[in-house]
Amino acid sequence: MYRFRRLRRDVRIRSMMQETRLHPKDFIYPVFVIEGENIKNPVASMPGIYQYSIDRLEEILEQIKEAGIGGIMLFGIPRHKDPQGSQAYAADGITQRAVRYIKENYPEIYIVVDICLCEYTSHGHCGMVHGEEILNDETLPYLVKMAVSLAEAGADMAAPSDMMDGRVAAIREGLDQAGFTQMPIMAYSAKFASAYYGPFRDAAHSAPGFGDRKSYQMDFANGQEAIREIGADIEEGADIVMVKPALAYLDVLKQAALTFKVPLAVYNVSGEYAMVKAAAANGWIDEKRIVMENLTAMKRAGAQIIITYHALDAVKWL
Ligand code: PBG
Ligand code: ZN
Repeated sequence: MYRFRRLRRDVRIRSMMQETRLHPKDFIYPVFVIEGENIKNPVASMPGIYQYSIDRLEEILEQIKEAGIGGIMLFGIPRHKDPQGSQAYAADGITQRAVRYIKENYPEIYIVVDICLCEYTSHGHCGMVHGEEILNDETLPYLVKMAVSLAEAGADMAAPSDMMDGRVAAIREGLDQAGFTQMPIMAYSAKFASAYYGPFRDAAHSAPGFGDRKSYQMDFANGQEAIREIGADIEEGADIVMVKPALAYLDVLKQAALTFKVPLAVYNVSGEYAMVKAAAANGWIDEKRIVMENLTAMKRAGAQIIITYHALDAVKWL
């Protein structure tokens, strides 16, 4: 009989045997920036998460700096929306201004920008629309413009989340031509059409005005196709690939880790966060233990980067 319990006898030996350890640099924390002044709006379905105007950003940026986490993922919420999402690539758009502000005042913070049009379009879809159809190739130049304009503002990394085919190659080419050959791309490669994004769409004002995102985001029934999506993004030049959401998709994450030897990210999304916070608020679960268990599972499954709303709490609990 093998006695596994010999190595579990007390905390000293257990901690030496621990295979997976979380570190502040594993985490990227999403930040919502809204147009206006003196705003710190709580997001009802995401306790602890707020929309900040630029003049209030320092409140959260100080905490991020203090926590020493890997970086932030920036989401802008513009005042003006139109069918082309023109504020997504305006030189003085909300996200561009936020990037410039952070770069200037918090140069130590690594800024990842989400590249997608849904927060900026009046119809709330991630691309150009014709009737009820979401157009693919017509959308690509707008995504390129957005990435280049945020690179010009000083963003460190571009993370396309739109799920249009060919966008990684288009953005890579656009960034290179504009002189940003050193800017990495983290592709939301296997992004599933998921009910887990519900709270985010309240936070980012990005719910689609008609229909759903199933013609571009993936069917959650498909694991094989996820591997093909990830492979295509790597071929197109993605530096980091992502699986999203996290918990219901750890099999996909693990399969990706086994198949591709490239850096992998996972997005622990808004609905996953909301479920934990709601159960914890009711006293039904131990929030700290549940969060650490969830985040450790994501790393154990193969994620090198974990994008999570729990990041600031998790660092305190390490
Ligand atoms: C924009 C985007 C979404 C999320 C990240 N980028 C929403 C969506 O696709 O509807 C979801 C993040 C979350 O739920 O935490 N395309
Ligand atoms: Zn989108």
